[in-house]
Amino acid sequence: MSTIIVATDSRSLSRSIRLAGTDDELMVITRDQVPAGAAQLLALADDPEAVRTVILDGGGDAETEGRVLQLASRMQQSHPQVSVVLVTPRGEEIALQALRSGVRDVLPPEPPLEDVRWVLRRAAESAQAFATGHAPGDTFTGRVIAVASPKGGVGKTTIATHLAAALAQHSPTGTVLVDLDVQFGDVAAALNLDPTYTLGDVLSGPVATDAIALKSLLTQHESGLYVLPGVRNPAEADHIGTEHISRLLGTLKREFRYVILDTAPGLHEQTLAALDQATDVVLVCGLDVPSVRGMRKELDLLHELDLEPLNIHVVVNMADKSGGLSVADVAATLGRKVDVVLPRSTKLLRATNAGEPLVISNPRDPVSKDLTALAGRFAPLGAGSAGRQHRGLLSR
Ligand SMILES: Nc1ncnc2c1ncn2[C@@H]1O[C@H](COP(=O)(O)OP(=O)(O)O)[C@@H](O)[C@H]1O
Ligand SMILES: [Mg+2]
Repeated sequence: MSTIIVATDSRSLSRSIRLAGTDDELMVITRDQVPAGAAQLLALADDPEAVRTVILDGGGDAETEGRVLQLASRMQQSHPQVSVVLVTPRGEEIALQALRSGVRDVLPPEPPLEDVRWVLRRAAESAQAFATGHAPGDTFTGRVIAVASPKGGVGKTTIATHLAAALAQHSPTGTVLVDLDVQFGDVAAALNLDPTYTLGDVLSGPVATDAIALKSLLTQHESGLYVLPGVRNPAEADHIGTEHISRLLGTLKREFRYVILDTAPGLHEQTLAALDQATDVVLVCGLDVPSVRGMRKELDLLHELDLEPLNIHVVVNMADKSGGLSVADVAATLGRKVDVVLPRSTKLLRATNAGEPLVISNPRDPVSKDLTALAGRFAPLGAGSAGRQHRGLLSR
């Protein structure tokens, strides 16, 4: 049996960790009882060797949180098998610094039970991987959400970046955005990032299957969101095969809770490889006849490809009354309901041009609320989400 040390003065936090119901032994101490050294902290447990997770509540206080980060970094050096989890109300602000210091995950002060379970499970898997020298198993994988549409210019990149930014607010250490519009991707620009590495650098060699190495090559947005941008030069895209994409997504979904994929228009091979690994697809169309017809064809094609178990979310973007088409018309043409409607918004346009997601710069804007509602559709899936069964596309 292994041990979790929790340092908090909050009863509700220790209760939710207890309720998360792992088999681990739980040892709760107050925040004042936390020593400065990693070994001293572990020594508080009956069996220091059995500790695999340490949850430290910073209490929202910058000075205490600074000490927690120092402790995390010492722990990573001396006891890398132990996962340190920081509890803070300032997750978004501090995420990047926390991760760099060796914190494995960040939780809010009143975390949903699902989140606590996720964090504890990841800690268990990484301790296991550490002990056995094997990569973590495939038992618990994240939600892989592809954003797709038959046509360009309908808002896929805008929606993918905003969805990712919104999910990163929920899970700052567990969200990655991958630009699978391999040739002409513009995710890095939409987030105002200047990446060192791109898709072309991570598809072969050991990084393709080693989640930790791969993570170190991702670019981080200030929100904590990890980003893997498309290639620098369109010609590089020729070397990217479906098998590369499958392997990459296989690695990412073991490490991240939310993997968001921006895609190129249409359903070409690379997007199909992505859909084959996806749990969800967000289909985007505008309020115009060609866009809705294209979407109808795409839905039919997904149906023919036997990708049914994919959760499909239909988004009408840039909705306004100028074209004479209504959302009800779209639903009638598609033969299914429209899940989310996003209005045409100059603020959203400006935010994308400035490289700053509206959900972060202006969370109270009505469009930010719509985008957050879209993110809310992706509640964490429990164990076994990886077991979504459909015949592998690529095997056919
Ligand atoms: N709801 C919206 N309101 C206003 N402009 C939008 C909206 N959604 C997207 N845009 C703008 O439309 C253009 C195309 O969007 P983009 O996300 O790049 O589409 P895609 O990735 O499908 O080609 C961009 O300039 C973007 O800022
Ligand atoms: Mg795009």
